Amino acid sequence: MRVLVTGGSGYVGSHAVRELSAAGHEAVIYDNLSTGHRRFSEGYRLIEADIADGAALAGALEGCDAVMHFAASAYVGESVENPRKYFRNNVESALKLLDGVLASRTRLFIFSSTCATYGIPRTLPITETSRREPINPYGATKMFFEQALAAYSVSHGLRSVSLRYFNAAGAHPGGAIGELHEPETHLIPLALKAALGTAPALKVYGKDLKTEDGTCIRDYVHVSDLGRAHVLALDYLAQGGATTAMNLGTGEGTSVAQLIAAVERVSGRSVPHTYVEPRAGDPPALFADAARARSVLGWRPRFDLLETLRTAWNWELKLQAGGYRI
Ligand SMILES: NC(=O)c1ccc[n+]([C@@H]2O[C@H](COP(=O)([O-])OP(=O)(O)OC[C@H]3O[C@@H](n4cnc5c(N)ncnc54)[C@H](O)[C@@H]3O)[C@@H](O)[C@H]2O)c1
Repeated sequence: MRVLVTGGSGYVGSHAVRELSAAGHEAVIYDNLSTGHRRFSEGYRLIEADIADGAALAGALEGCDAVMHFAASAYVGESVENPRKYFRNNVESALKLLDGVLASRTRLFIFSSTCATYGIPRTLPITETSRREPINPYGATKMFFEQALAAYSVSHGLRSVSLRYFNAAGAHPGGAIGELHEPETHLIPLALKAALGTAPALKVYGKDLKTEDGTCIRDYVHVSDLGRAHVLALDYLAQGGATTAMNLGTGEGTSVAQLIAAVERVSGRSVPHTYVEPRAGDPPALFADAARARSVLGWRPRFDLLETLRTAWNWELKLQAGGYRI
């Protein structure tokens, strides 16, 4: 199948593009390069345009069987400071993308949603039926778009899978692509940089939280496993699967203290860190029940935490050695 991949020059999208190719599909990348990297698109067709650009979209969608929609603004903190940017890009522009899709013959759609749509969970692990009460504008925009997709499915015949990722982590095992956000806000790259001495000591938000060791618990899922889930979701829709949403996580919660220990093991270096106040509205623990993805898609993560960290470490070493230029 030919798949239009919005945001295919970004972190998760570029890994999904490789998984699509590996499965014999054709990926066409559609990206405005606002946070993505041209270099991540090398070897693929890249259409450099915005999802709100109806004319560019119409051309790009010609001959496409499906859309994978990664393009979004994706910083929780920034969404609190500048909600307008988030509602504009993740809702208004994303609805224009849907207008373009409905005007085309493409009727299969896969969406990058997030565990941020759940807010602070009342019970763990989080299932798809857990209450969804986003606590920041980023999560609210993603939930809104999921609801638009559910409604468009009923009334416009656009079938979709919304994939609610937990924390994307790691890099492509081949070493050509990996995590490269500016600014970097994600824990693993910050921990690796702190170990290398190329970033300040890691800030650990909270040490007296209501978790076993007092630090924050998250579910780290390898980015190539996320990419593979997209390909499986595409197969599911192509075989007539109904619109649905599902969690993508390993089901394992890892605390920041455990993560630091694992980074030290993988890198052979210590991770300098300091404890600071917990961030307002930061849930102490989030991890997934991914049973639905397992039963509906047959998806199981292939990378465990140490393997994920090894790929991230190799990527970080490559970045630091200057072996990678944008
Ligand atoms: N990284 C995570 O842990 C995580 C977790 C849950 C959900 N997600 C979601 O996954 C998706 C990808 O996240 P990421 O971490 O790869 O982010 P990223 O910033 O690396 O990728 C986003 C890509 O979309 C492009 N883009 C943004 N707005 C666009 C627009 N209007 N038109 C065209 N292109 C546009 C950017 O240039 C970039 O290449 C996002 O939708 C994000 O919300 C990410």
